[in-house]
Amino acid sequence: MIELAPSILSADFARLGEQVRAACQGGAHVIHVDIMDGHFVPNLTIGPPVVKSLRKVTELPLDCHLMIDNPDEFIPVFADAGANWISVHQEACLHLNRTLHLIKSHGCLTGVVINPATPVETLSEVLDIVDYVLVMSVNPGFGAQKFIPSTMHKMRRLADIRSQRGLSYRIEVDGGVALDTVADVVRAGAEILVAGNAVFGNGDPKKNAESLLRAATEAALVRI
Ligand code: DX5
Ligand code: ZN
Repeated sequence: MIELAPSILSADFARLGEQVRAACQGGAHVIHVDIMDGHFVPNLTIGPPVVKSLRKVTELPLDCHLMIDNPDEFIPVFADAGANWISVHQEACLHLNRTLHLIKSHGCLTGVVINPATPVETLSEVLDIVDYVLVMSVNPGFGAQKFIPSTMHKMRRLADIRSQRGLSYRIEVDGGVALDTVADVVRAGAEILVAGNAVFGNGDPKKNAESLLRAATEAALVRI
């Protein structure tokens, strides 16, 4: 099943509740929350208080994408604030197995993320303990960047490995997902689609979410 995860990074933070509600009405399944620390990525965004506030405006799962150094320090805090899904970057974790188990111990769905320059093979020892793998299709740090097509082979590869090894993780894609790229990522195997600028950048988030989801669902019907 295809799920849409609007990223609030491109929302109007002064009207965050209203914008998130509109995206939910447009069919969003999950709300994607980009947490950046100014070290792991060259940008700063939001912390646990905003996650706590978001918890009050939607019952949808909150998908917290941690683009931070030392994620172990903050996983408990984000879980307490109301995160339902937490993902960490392979590149930020020296003890990735331990960090993924820490997320699990807080009762959250557990995700691992790879940057565009990181191969799928770096995840081979953790694929059996994650609930989802997030393939970055832009270099993390900013919304509204151009989709990097060469990342798509990693979605296909993850789908192949999953069936070969009988695993059950889901495949998420993040970065540059919009009406002109959504069919390709879905055909490549992506199932959870993060979209920031395409939902919140211009116009009505409800209508934008609906169109994106429609295009994704149509592409899934002809997926080979
Ligand atoms: C980038 C973030 C993304 C970002 C996607 O570092 O992880 O979630 O918001 O934004 P768009 O969809 O605008 O590329
Ligand atoms: Zn993200």
